[in-house]
Amino acid sequence: MVLAVTAAAGLAVLAGPSPAAASEVVVYCSVNEDWCREVVTSFERKTGIKALMTRKSAGEVYAQLRAEKSNPKADIWFGGSGDPHLQAAEEGLTEPYKSPELDRLYGWAIRQAEISGYRTVGIYMGALGFGYNKDLLAKRKIAAPACWSDLVKSDFRDEIQIADPNSSGTAYTMLATMVQLMGEDAAFDYLKRLHRNVNQYTKSGAAPAKSAAQGETMLGIAFQHDLLVEAIAGAPVAIVAPCEGTGYEIGSMSLVKGARNPDTAKIFYDWALTPEVQALGAKARNFQIPSNSGAQIPPESPRVDRMKLISYDFARYGSSAERTRLLAKWDHEVKSLSR
Ligand code: G6P
Repeated sequence: MVLAVTAAAGLAVLAGPSPAAASEVVVYCSVNEDWCREVVTSFERKTGIKALMTRKSAGEVYAQLRAEKSNPKADIWFGGSGDPHLQAAEEGLTEPYKSPELDRLYGWAIRQAEISGYRTVGIYMGALGFGYNKDLLAKRKIAAPACWSDLVKSDFRDEIQIADPNSSGTAYTMLATMVQLMGEDAAFDYLKRLHRNVNQYTKSGAAPAKSAAQGETMLGIAFQHDLLVEAIAGAPVAIVAPCEGTGYEIGSMSLVKGARNPDTAKIFYDWALTPEVQALGAKARNFQIPSNSGAQIPPESPRVDRMKLISYDFARYGSSAERTRLLAKWDHEVKSLSR
């Protein structure tokens, strides 16, 4: 109700080119499709503002915002791991904004806003890991992997799937995690050895979780919450928080600079940070940890408090220079290798 009033008030003062343009918002969405749909449908129902949504992986949205810089098509970017949001912020592709909800967010979400000059904000967090298909593993009599180091064993030749870090925020989180865990030289050596075991670099980060669930690959590297969705649905997937420790994402949200519908985008932004709306993730069976301290943490959420998490340096690995450099190095030294 409050939101409907806010929307109406927002619409009344809009000075957009036409009333039609003022009553819509264009959303680039980088969480899973079902959550994207849940969010835009609820927003339309609540506010009467039309929400046009496109789902794309986080690295792809970053590249699209860059390509559209002189003529932005989107108003808001909802979800996806934080590093590409931070890069977009640094490159001035997104707009600074402090939501009235900001104070109610956990420190990790506020910190994301602070390091970006308030051009992005954390909306959820989740840890990286891998999952294997228990049936396929048993059939091949392979010992259960527990560590990142297990994934380069010859047992897993052609059995592993992970996304391409250029398109996928998930896979970039993995790349940056390895660099932080092992040091850059050892990390690239590891990624080259892993490459021999990779059967496909997918576009989206959650695809390897689905493939492992369906038995199309034995093992998928993905966020643990994406693997969990498959396990809860009954797939024979075991989820691993790697023994050496692991990285995590701060899923983020940003307002697009030069947006055609900046006022409706802000209405969407404030609304999306509320506890009620953060609960829509779990409703759509996505079990990340919401960033609003007033939102319930889904009981299904992987217990990050019991995992060995690295102290992920978002400022560094979300910086334009570092992300660009690491991706170019990965393309040159890893992806181009024959298998
Ligand atoms: C999935 C996860 C999100 C993550 C997103 C990144 O949707 O559930 O937590 O932020 O992937 O997507 P990407 O395709 O860029 O790896």
